[in-house]
Formats: sequence, C-alpha cells, structure tokens
Amino acid sequence: MNPPADPLTANAPAGATLATRFRQEFDDAPDGIWQAPGRVNLIGEHTDYNEGFVLPFAIDRTARVAVRVRPDSSVRLLSTYGDQGVVSSSLDNLEPGSAKGWTKYPLGVMWALKQRGVDVPGVDLLLDSNVPLGAGLSSSHAIECAVISAINDLTGAGLQPQEMVLATQRAENDFVGAPTGIMDQSASLRGSEGHAVFLDCRDQNVRLVPFETQPAGLVMLVIDTKVSHSHADGGYASRRASCELGAEVLGVKALRDVQVADLAEANGLLDVVTFRRVRHVVTENARVLQTVELLAGAGPAAIGSLLDASHASMRDDFEISCPELDLAVDTARASGAIGARMTGGGFGGAAIALTPASAEQSVRDAVATAFADARYKVPDIFTVSPAAGARRIA
Ligand code: GLA
Repeated sequence: MNPPADPLTANAPAGATLATRFRQEFDDAPDGIWQAPGRVNLIGEHTDYNEGFVLPFAIDRTARVAVRVRPDSSVRLLSTYGDQGVVSSSLDNLEPGSAKGWTKYPLGVMWALKQRGVDVPGVDLLLDSNVPLGAGLSSSHAIECAVISAINDLTGAGLQPQEMVLATQRAENDFVGAPTGIMDQSASLRGSEGHAVFLDCRDQNVRLVPFETQPAGLVMLVIDTKVSHSHADGGYASRRASCELGAEVLGVKALRDVQVADLAEANGLLDVVTFRRVRHVVTENARVLQTVELLAGAGPAAIGSLLDASHASMRDDFEISCPELDLAVDTARASGAIGARMTGGGFGGAAIALTPASAEQSVRDAVATAFADARYKVPDIFTVSPAAGARRIA
C-alpha cells in the first residue's frame, strides 16, 4: 500500500507547512486553510448530464488552499506545483478565456460567484494538492471546491452545497470551457468517510451509501494510465451532443426518462451510433441502481460484474476508453481483481480495480508488466478509500 503523502508537506519545501509557506510568500498569515478531495466514480459514467444517477466517492487525496482576504480587488495566486510563480489578476477583469493553467479553476470560481451576485473579495491564495493532475480523479474540481468553500466561509455568503455545486459547474462550463456535469463537485463537496455518494442528478438529492472495502477484505486500486485528457477537447462534448440528440428524437426531457425496456423501440428510431450512446446511458443508470442495492445487501464483493459491464459499455457503446485503459482493466481482472472499469470522463485518465487484499500485489505486478511489454508509460498504481468532503481545516 502507498499511503498518500501529507499534502501540507509533500510538494512544499521540506518541513514547511502551507501556512508557513503562505507567510513567506505573502508576508502575512492566511485567514484560514480549506481542503477538498478528488473523487473516484464507482459507477455511473456520463449519466450526470443526462439527469441520471451516479455513485462517486470522495478520495483521501486533497487540494488545500491557504487564503487571505485583501483590501482591494487584486488576486494573487501561487501553487506549490512551482510552474507559474505568483500569478496576479484582478476581479475587475475576469472573463472566460482570460486565465491559463491551474489558475483557471480558482479564477473561474470567483467569476461564477460574482455572476451569482456574491461580493467576492480580492485574495492571496496558495494551493497545494496531492490529487494527481489529469488522471481523471477531478484534480480541477478539488481546487474549485476548496476555493469555493473558502470564499463561502470568508464572505459569509451562506451558499448551500447544492448552490456551490452549480456555481462550480458554471465555472467549468463557461469559464474553463468544459461542458461537464455535476458529479465531480458533488462528490468533493458532499462526500463522507466510508461512504459513496448516491446522487440523483435531476434534483441533486443525495443518499450516502456505506462503502468500505477493508472489512470486506478488498482494496480499491486506482491505475493512472498517465494518458492525459481534457474535457474541453471535443470527445466529451460530442458524447454529450449525441445524448441530447437521442433524448430529442425519443421525445424525452433527458435520457434519464428512458428505461432498459424502452431500448428495443428506441433502436428503430435512432441512427446506429446515437442508439449505442443512448444504450450506454440507459443501461448505466440501471447499473447504478443495482450497485446501490447490492451494497446495501451483499456488500462490495458483489458488485464486480457491474463494474465489468460498465467498462464494456463505455468501451463498446460509448466509445470513450483507450487501449491503455482497456489493458489496465483486462490485466487487473485476469490477475485477481473482482471487477474493474475506467473511471471519469474517459479518453485517458485512470481505471479502478476492486481487488481482494490478498491479490493486490499480483494485480500491481501484472499491470506494471503488461504496460512495460506494451511500451506504454509507467502507470501509477495506488489505493484509495472513501473520505470526507470539503471542509475548513485551519
Ligand atoms: C467528467 C465530468 C463529470 C461526468 C464524468 C463522466 O468527470 O466532469 O461531470 O460527466 O466526466 O461521468
């Protein structure tokens, strides 16, 4: 097992805490420190923007921001990634397309909050994160959720989690330019230790579902393929457009309203590709509901075949997998995992493999060997467990 490094010190100079580093950089103490986790989606992929069901969980890897309110409308941003130095901006000039790199995420949140009428103050902000970047574990939403929690607290705006979810979605959609749904920020803001977040994306209703691997003798392995992806690229948007077309032709508000039993009829009404996209979403919604039921009864050891079916559906019907993800999933299954699937938006990123603790090492070794044989990048393999959602930590 590789426990995640302490994010307060992992990327910062040895021994320094985020607060100490903040003081060094900005000559004063922060008003507070907020943290928000990345997420793994257990099941329910590309169902969120179809008003369907998802079952993600917040993971024990977090983004942390130290923030101090300024007396003016300037924003100074620094990360421990060490790539851009201090980036200075002004709240008065924020507009979509005006930010680069990781600063899109905090600035997008500030922009979206201003659009909602929140009186956003200028801030100095230092970010540290141990959510792997570009791995499909929502590193960007972890940043956004830490920032929005900080601003919500510092301004006393009193936004409820559902409102913060919509504000971060607006930041992603309109400022960052990624037409994503509400799953990732819901997991990050509303996650709870030892639970998966069963979210109905039509009304944002959440039910926390107990999900613990250790008592069942299992581990949840994440296999980061190191194939980077961006939801601002065309693939995600084109899948979303197919779903919208499918709903329109079938005469429903969203694909959430189509049931598995309706698929035979839908097949006659849709072109071949749109039908396959629709079939993924409709069957995936059903798999989420079955997973929730199984977790409440037989427990995590019973959900393996649903994870496998979800992956096959994304590979064959939704066509968002890639050779590296398929190799990770197939190898994990062949070497002892009880179920595996790609997680997140697809076209790269990570797979998850639900694995008996006794088979963890053989799965790790087999995947590493298979990737080396295929001359793929060296994958990063680590365990995750369901952790708490965003909160103030100092
Ligand atoms: C990305 C998006 C989510 C969701 C998933 C696919 O993670 O941010 O809103 O659509 O892809 O399930």
